[in-house]
Amino acid sequence: MIHFHRVSVEYPRTKTMALYNVNLEVKKGEFVFLVGHSGAGKSTLLGLALKRLEPTSGAVYVAGQNLANLRGNRVALHRRNIGMVFQDHRLLADLTVEENLAFILRVLGVDPREWKKRIVRVLRTVGIVHKRRAYPYQLSVGEAQRVAIARAIIGRPPIVLADEPTGNLDPENAVQVLEIFKAIHASGATVIIATHSRELVEAYPQRVVVLRSGQLVRDEKTGTYAL
Ligand SMILES: Nc1ncnc2c1ncn2[C@@H]1O[C@H](COP(=O)(O)OP(=O)(O)O)[C@@H](O)[C@H]1O
Ligand SMILES: [Mg+2]
Repeated sequence: MIHFHRVSVEYPRTKTMALYNVNLEVKKGEFVFLVGHSGAGKSTLLGLALKRLEPTSGAVYVAGQNLANLRGNRVALHRRNIGMVFQDHRLLADLTVEENLAFILRVLGVDPREWKKRIVRVLRTVGIVHKRRAYPYQLSVGEAQRVAIARAIIGRPPIVLADEPTGNLDPENAVQVLEIFKAIHASGATVIIATHSRELVEAYPQRVVVLRSGQLVRDEKTGTYAL
């Protein structure tokens, strides 16, 4: 589903080697924890899958497509296959929860008669349907993160990527958010979660890929890891 083939990334301005010769294949329907210290290259790797940046060498394939060959409108179409969740929720501040979600449905060209049903359903999935008329500033950090997840999955993307989605949450909220990702995985999506939380990884024993200073140093099927 997602294949990083001998990928290296150098940020030219600082000459930082963020990734070095990374080989990683994530199959359809797999759940992968991407772990590593701050600066290990996790966000860079997720950014490659979204084509937010290009590899300096190597190639990235998503659903069999070499992303280097995608241009213009096809990049936008590619991104629709990926639901992305960031550590900070990035909701639109002057729109309510349901308006934030409707905004996405509009972009996706979903029939407006479908919006309400889709919005209520996805808010049920993340457990905050009662907050649908709230503005982002009226939400707790955990609630805002649930909305961010709702926004990522409302288009039913086959791939969901999350960059430290529980980084700002207390342990109880973090585990609840992980439950949402488990449900997304159970519904058939391919999921990659970048995290440096050992608790999270131990709470859902799945494949763990470890990055250290830009290199893929471990790939464990068991859900145990050491940084
Ligand atoms: N836009 C950028 N310009 C220059 N260097 C960057 C940029 N983004 C990240 N880096 C560097 O690349 C390395 C990997 O960063 P990153 O992928 O953000 O790691 P992680 O997400 O694991 O913390 C770090 O050394 C970081 O400082
Ligand atoms: Mg990061």
